[in-house]
Parts: sequence; structure tokens; C-alpha cells
Amino acid sequence: MLTLPLTRELVLDRPLADCFRYLADFSTTGQWDPGVFEADKHTPGAAAAGSRFALRLNVLGRSVPAQYQLVTRDENRQLVLHGEGPGFTVVDTLDFEARGQARTRLRYQAVMRWEAIPARIAPLLKPWAERLGDQAMTGLVRALVEDGPEQLPKRERLAQKLVVPGMVAFTRRGWRTQHSRGLSRRLDGRTVAITGVTAGLGLAAAQELARLGARLILIGRDADRLAAAQQTIRDFAGPCELLPYEAELSSLADTQRLAERLLAEQPELDVLINNAGALFAERGDTAEGHERTLAVNLLSPALLAKRLEPLLARRRGRVINVVSGGLYLQGLVLDDLDYQRGPFDGTKAYARAKRGLLALTRLWAEDEPRIAWHAMHPGWAATPGVARSLPDFDRRMQPFLRTPRQGADTMVWLASHPAVGVGSADSSGFWFDRAQRPDALLPGTAVDTPTAMSLEAEVRLRGGW
Ligand SMILES: NC(=O)c1ccc[n+]([C@@H]2O[C@H](COP(=O)([O-])OP(=O)(O)OC[C@H]3O[C@@H](n4cnc5c(N)ncnc54)[C@H](OP(=O)(O)O)[C@@H]3O)[C@@H](O)[C@H]2O)c1
Repeated sequence: MLTLPLTRELVLDRPLADCFRYLADFSTTGQWDPGVFEADKHTPGAAAAGSRFALRLNVLGRSVPAQYQLVTRDENRQLVLHGEGPGFTVVDTLDFEARGQARTRLRYQAVMRWEAIPARIAPLLKPWAERLGDQAMTGLVRALVEDGPEQLPKRERLAQKLVVPGMVAFTRRGWRTQHSRGLSRRLDGRTVAITGVTAGLGLAAAQELARLGARLILIGRDADRLAAAQQTIRDFAGPCELLPYEAELSSLADTQRLAERLLAEQPELDVLINNAGALFAERGDTAEGHERTLAVNLLSPALLAKRLEPLLARRRGRVINVVSGGLYLQGLVLDDLDYQRGPFDGTKAYARAKRGLLALTRLWAEDEPRIAWHAMHPGWAATPGVARSLPDFDRRMQPFLRTPRQGADTMVWLASHPAVGVGSADSSGFWFDRAQRPDALLPGTAVDTPTAMSLEAEVRLRGGW
């Protein structure tokens, strides 16, 4: 048996309650500890003494499963966790102390016990554990304090210009290279409306937003799936305020009805996340006569954003339009928005609609400065939508796909971080992994302002806003 004690102490520029609440949910370790690939809370509800967590530890690049249990939660004072994995146990003790109103002293102590370690490996373990401890503390400072927009290194800026090599960053490996991955900015007292919450990225984003204290307007098209989503969100975040709204977003009449209801019933709205989206293998028109990819991915989110604009502007709110990295491969085809010319290609139709939504986001950022207008793309994440619409891609890429939680990261960060709100230097943009990205990389794919204005006129005509 080998015992390794490790102690670190640091002062964080965040109030005590923020630090304690963030760390009490040990599933956030996946956001700040480089020694953890993934972490999930397995006990439903707010993290309490007895809550269990399943982790995938990063042991010299290998993924090793470990189980943790929160043993003590002494509010704003102490957290004690007990963990075990193949051949080791660990007890983590975190002691918190306020340093005035705005700062917190954190003392972190880990005692690891290793069974049957070969003699030649034993001397390596101490320096390895010390290094991990340092990296974890650096990660924690980033998660709680230095979690602003990412500045891309030159190497990555060059890679993204080459489009296909840049797409390597769309994988989970790309997510791991992100400098800061913590989601710790509280949203108490803010209302966030999000579409497509019944699966995939929207559900993951809603869980995280609820953990951060947001009051959530959950938009879905099916009552049973909406009820199941609410349960999943509560299991993840504990008690929270959830307001379900039903709408079929391929119908502009239904989207319009949703907007009317929200305007009538919700006095405040801080963030709208247009997340719902779909890619169809076959061409199809909606009952209202629009090609359905266009309806779901462009016409409906545009209508919702424009109708809710006055509500959002009153609160200096934010709109986050979820697009796709696939748009880098397509330009806008303004004279064939419904894809009537040539054989239908679902991925092209999808990319063109997303390209259109990005162009409108840019236009509206110029027109309405009382709102922070953002578009983002999530990389490639394993979701029911990807499995359904791109089954071959899903199968081949499975080990490389991001988890929904990782794919939703930038969405939640844009909804919550002060550095991207109205009045900040980054109050609008096109984002991937918390970094501003170019709108277009290939010749002929950029949308100039007159074209975006023509697109807006057409989308407005169809949406009746
Ligand atoms: N996953 C990725 O790798 C990836 C990559 C690039 C971009 N994106 C974008 O990210 C967003 C979320 O994608 P996802 O992968 O999480 O997709 P998903 O697993 O298919 O989930 C999509 C969500 O949108 C809802 N939705 C779809 N069509 C709708 C409609 N007509 N009316 C109302 N709700 C509708 C779905 O509701 P139901 O449960 O009722 O079907 C579901 O809640 C989309 O905008 C997608 O284009 C995803």
C-alpha cells in the first residue's frame, strides 16, 4: 500500500457561495480538472451527502472509471468526497473560507492510497500526482475566474482556415484543448427560453442552465417528451423553475402562436436560444408550403427572435442561434431557398439554412444593439439527431464525438457569461468553443449585407413579422 497526500491552497476572486455551489456538484470536475475526462452525477437532485458520481479519469491519457461519493456537505464550509477506482482509493477534502465579500480561500487536500504498486512505478507516482494537483488548481482558477472568450493560438487559426483539418477540432479532442471549460456564472433571476429541449444539445444545455439557477422556458413539440425532459433537468440540477411550452416549429403559424403566448404570459426574457434544428434525407414541404429544412432551421428561429425582440431588448438580453460547422461548405442560394432546383441533398439544404441564420444574426447585431446577437456551432456531438440523420457518420465517428454536455458548452457560456452581453467588446459574434470564428472560409460562401437584407425581406414575408 502506498499513501500519497497532496495539499493545495488558493484564493479565488469569486464569492464564497459561488465557489462552494460550483464545487459541490462534483460533476463539474469534468470542466476544470485535466485529470478527469468526464464526470456525471448519478444521484438525482441537488448534490447532497450521499450523492454519487461516475468519473472517467485521465490516467496518463488512458480513460479509467472511478466512483465518487459526496460524504460531507457542510454548507459554505467543507466538502468531503470519497472515491475509488481500479487499485486506488482517494479522500478529497475541500475547505472554504470567505475573504471579504468577493473572494474565497480554498484549501484542497487529497489522500490517495494505492494497492500493490510495482516498486519501479512507485517513485513516479508522487511527481505525477503533484503535477496533476497543480493542473487541477490552474483549471479551477480558469473555471471560476478566467473564463472569458478564448484567444486562439496561431496554429489553430491556421488549421481552421484549411476547413477540413480545422474540423478535427469539432471532435471531443478539440473540446479538451479549450483553455477554459468551466460553467460557473450564475443565472439566478434570469429567464432563458430554449427550443429543442427534449433531446441532445438542447436538453444538455437546459440541464446546465438550470444548475446555474436560470428560470427556464422549455419549448418542445410533444407533451410527454417535455414532461420527461423536465424530470431529467430536475434530476441533474435539483429544484428549479421550469415552464414548458408546446410548439411544432416546422409550422410558422405554431411558432407565431408560441411567440404570442410568450409575449402575453412572460413579462421578462433575458435569453432566447434557438437550438431546435433538423436535417432531412428526403425533400419535403410543410403544410404552409416551405421546404421543411428551411422552415425548422431558418424561418421559425428568425420569426421567434423577431417577435420576442421587444421583450429581450427591455432586458438588454441575448439571442443565441445554433447553427452548424457544415455551413463552411455552403453559400446562400437566395433564388432557390426551397431547394427546388437539382436533386435534393439534405446536408446541403441544412447547411444553407444555417448559413442564412448566421447571416441574419449578423444583420440584426447591426440593427438592434440593445440585444447581444450570437450564433454558435457545437462541433460534432453524439445526439439522437446525429444518429438519426447521419447514421454512417455517427457509427464511424462514435469514439470521437463530443458528449451532448460538451457540445452544449458554448451555448450555455454565451447565455451566462458577462463578457458576451450587451455593451461588452464581444456582444455579438459567431462562436465555436468560446472563440470568435470567421463566418466563411471558402470563396463564394460569404454573405454580404445587401444579400443578407434581401434574405431578411424574404424570411419576413414568409413569417409575417
Ligand atoms: N449534434 C451535432 O453534432 C450538431 C452539429 C451541428 C449543429 N447542431 C445543431 O444543434 C442543434 C441541436 O441538435 P441535436 O444534435 O441536439 O439534435 P436532436 O438530437 O435531433 O435534438 C433536436 C431537438 O430539436 C427538436 N425539434 C426538432 N424539430 C422540431 C420541430 N419541428 N419542432 C419542435 N422541435 C423540434 C427535437 O424535438 P423532438 O424530441 O420532438 O424531436 C429535439 O428536442 C440543432 O440546431 C442542430 O442543427 C448539432
